[in-house]
Amino acid sequence: MIGKAMQAAINEQINKEFYSSYLYLSMAAYFEDKNLMGFGHWMRLQADEEREHAMKFYNFILDAGGQVKLQAIDAPATEWKSNLEVAEQVAEHEAKVTASIHNLYETALKEKDYAAQVMLQWFINEQVEEEKNATELVAKLRLIEERGTAVLMLDHRLSKRSGEAEGEEEE
Ligand SMILES: [Fe+2]
Ligand SMILES: [Fe+2]
Repeated sequence: MIGKAMQAAINEQINKEFYSSYLYLSMAAYFEDKNLMGFGHWMRLQADEEREHAMKFYNFILDAGGQVKLQAIDAPATEWKSNLEVAEQVAEHEAKVTASIHNLYETALKEKDYAAQVMLQWFINEQVEEEKNATELVAKLRLIEERGTAVLMLDHRLSKRSGEAEGEEEE
């Protein structure tokens, strides 16, 4: 049976994951409105992944005999100044999520919740991947600035992202 502190912390994380999904969905709409369908595709998949993260936590609480308490999701931004600004916000956001996953792990250690520790190890690894993808996108956008041809080439590349969480094809 999951403890009260762990349950409250995971319920908060569920909200953060749904907010991430919402934020990335908003970013997808921003890109697709600019006809950057590859960027939009990449963001839609990112949004799907965040929903999956939320559901992993959701299932964990239920499996551990706890109570899922969904909270209101904040409205995400809808406008950005540039493609680069979007990517920078993804990177900043993922860094914040990593910190909150690490805090959850601290709670799991303090509460001696071993099942939560094992579950959270998956998320710790996942965040390494998430931060890497985001910083890579920032670096590429900085390199090409807003040069049209280069943006379109990157758009094409991002359109090839597969839906599989494992072994993502980025070529
Ligand atoms: Fe996530
Ligand atoms: Fe993420």
